[in-house]
Amino acid sequence: MKKCFISMLALGLALSLGACSDDGENPGSGTSGEETITIGVAMPTQTSERWIADGNAVKEGLEALGYRVDLQFANDDIPTQTQQIDQMITQGEKLLIIASIDGTALTSQLQSAADKGIKVIAYDRLIRNSANVDFYVTFDNYKVGVAQANALLYGLGLTDKAGAKKADAPAGPFNIEIFAGSPDDNNAVFFFDGAMDTLKPYLDAGTLVVKSGQTDFEQVAIMRWSQEGAQKRMEDLLSSTYSGGKDALAGVLSPFDGISRGIITALQPAYGTTMADGLPIVTGQDAEVSSVKLINDGVQSSTIFKDTRKLADQAVTAAKAYLAGAEPTANNTDTYDNGVKVVPSYLLEIDTVYKEDIKPLLIDSGYFTEAEVEAGVTS
Ligand code: GAL
Repeated sequence: MKKCFISMLALGLALSLGACSDDGENPGSGTSGEETITIGVAMPTQTSERWIADGNAVKEGLEALGYRVDLQFANDDIPTQTQQIDQMITQGEKLLIIASIDGTALTSQLQSAADKGIKVIAYDRLIRNSANVDFYVTFDNYKVGVAQANALLYGLGLTDKAGAKKADAPAGPFNIEIFAGSPDDNNAVFFFDGAMDTLKPYLDAGTLVVKSGQTDFEQVAIMRWSQEGAQKRMEDLLSSTYSGGKDALAGVLSPFDGISRGIITALQPAYGTTMADGLPIVTGQDAEVSSVKLINDGVQSSTIFKDTRKLADQAVTAAKAYLAGAEPTANNTDTYDNGVKVVPSYLLEIDTVYKEDIKPLLIDSGYFTEAEVEAGVTS
């Protein structure tokens, strides 16, 4: 932009600003004079740390390959996201990487993209009801749910870390409550199914009891993965089912660190600040830095680490393949049916993080520094 402005002055030409704009309409002329390709990256929100990390990692990876990137966040607002994507298409961006807010709300945008030959990569969240999703990069979402349930069972002393039943396991019964993610996010169902399949034998045997009786996905789902929504539901459960916190609650299955923070805020006044004080076991997902601090401080029991650097890498690799006229490599072609077709996918592995795993998994790999974990914020 600056360069452009200077050359305008030097030449004294009445160039229109549009010719120098950064809007992708005229993908920037590189110094070589070749067209620079612009890629649209649509992320759901900046209120969750992980999506900021994802957005930045994808941007850096694409820029390192010489592409220009139009990175947009949509404040978890569906019309904002559809408008951003419409604009990316109008501006002639050559490929779209999308982490949708509502996986069912983008059918018409994706049709326009397909009409213009723009490839679409769904990022972590499957886009549903459209034939025009070309590729999907994500983690093994069913396994995430299994790992969350295993972390709850391990926290309660019922299993070892690998999920095997302990010989000296306490008989229980343990009261637990279940939370699920946003009903408009395909992943939420995978997490829930993986977790409930794993908890089922313990629920059937009466070792675990969901005292509220709320075990259906519709009853336990938290719209937009909202921290406040989770806090409110937990507070309501405490008053309706646990005599305001006087009755025992041993654990809460939570599918996402933001939801876990809401649950913990509701529980602390009744049960104590840390697990050592009597706070129930609370699981999580995403290794958000503020929750990693809570794990380090003995407040939250665990989280699931989904390395956003690896996910971003996969998205960048797939984008590069498409832009070279090739097909990206999938490692799963049968799991992710979006209602119209099975979308070829690349699934990454996950890790469960307890306090003792913070150093080897998160600090030694350079994901966070020790100081960031202690502070609970990234610098
Ligand atoms: C899901 C994602 C989770 C979590 C959640 C809330 O789609 O798979 O890892 O980030 O959204 O943002």
